[in-house]
Amino acid sequence: MSTLLAINTSPMTRTAVTRRLVETFVSMWRERFPGGRVIPRDLGAAPPPHPDERMLTAFAKPDEALTAGERQLMTLSDTLVDELIAAHHIVIGSPMYNFTVTSGFKAWIDMVGRAGRTFDYGPDGPRGLLGGRQVFVLTARGGFYTNGSPEGQMDFQESFLRGYFGFLGIDDVRFIHAEGQGIDPGTAQDNEAAAMRELETLFAGDEVRRVA
Ligand SMILES: Cc1cc2nc3c(=O)[nH]c(=O)nc-3n(C[C@H](O)[C@H](O)[C@H](O)COP(=O)(O)O)c2cc1C
Repeated sequence: MSTLLAINTSPMTRTAVTRRLVETFVSMWRERFPGGRVIPRDLGAAPPPHPDERMLTAFAKPDEALTAGERQLMTLSDTLVDELIAAHHIVIGSPMYNFTVTSGFKAWIDMVGRAGRTFDYGPDGPRGLLGGRQVFVLTARGGFYTNGSPEGQMDFQESFLRGYFGFLGIDDVRFIHAEGQGIDPGTAQDNEAAAMRELETLFAGDEVRRVA
């Protein structure tokens, strides 16, 4: 069954631009894949904790060496990894915060980068284990970073996410940006509408791959 993991990362539960983009993506995806399964994950409303020493120590242990307490500490990370592995498509609403992602999203990233589950180390170095999936990142930004903007060099959000998912073996990572959200209401609306049109174009073509 086609499965979409739909991740929101904006802490703003009522007004977020990225939440509207994710909602639209999900309804278009449901039309494209009737009967498909959508797994919702809200890292904005319920951010995972930042991994601490005890959790990271547990991550590094083989399964059979875990104490009951450590096993308990791994539960959320295991669930998040299971959701990611189950998905063919992953859509992420990602507001730019201080030129990169929100801290709740970063905590998720730290929890799903798990040796032996989402990547491993071989003789040639790390190897991603999640190849074949597609990631769609829908961003909102107060300013402008694309189309040759001089601020472009401060966009650590797109380069970080491309690098991170590439590390997990996912090279098909697409971005749709709703920029200019902090300029004035008209500019914000125009750029959100342009991002919605990009979503329509995405689903009008064959870019959201059919799942075998
Ligand atoms: C803590 C914080 C940091 C932000 N940092 C940036 C930034 O570095 N660059 C930028 O263009 N906008 C920045 N913004 C503006 C947000 O990206 C913008 O408001 C966006 O619409 C938020 O997405 P959302 O509406 O989906 O929550 C920041 C906003 C907040 C609250």
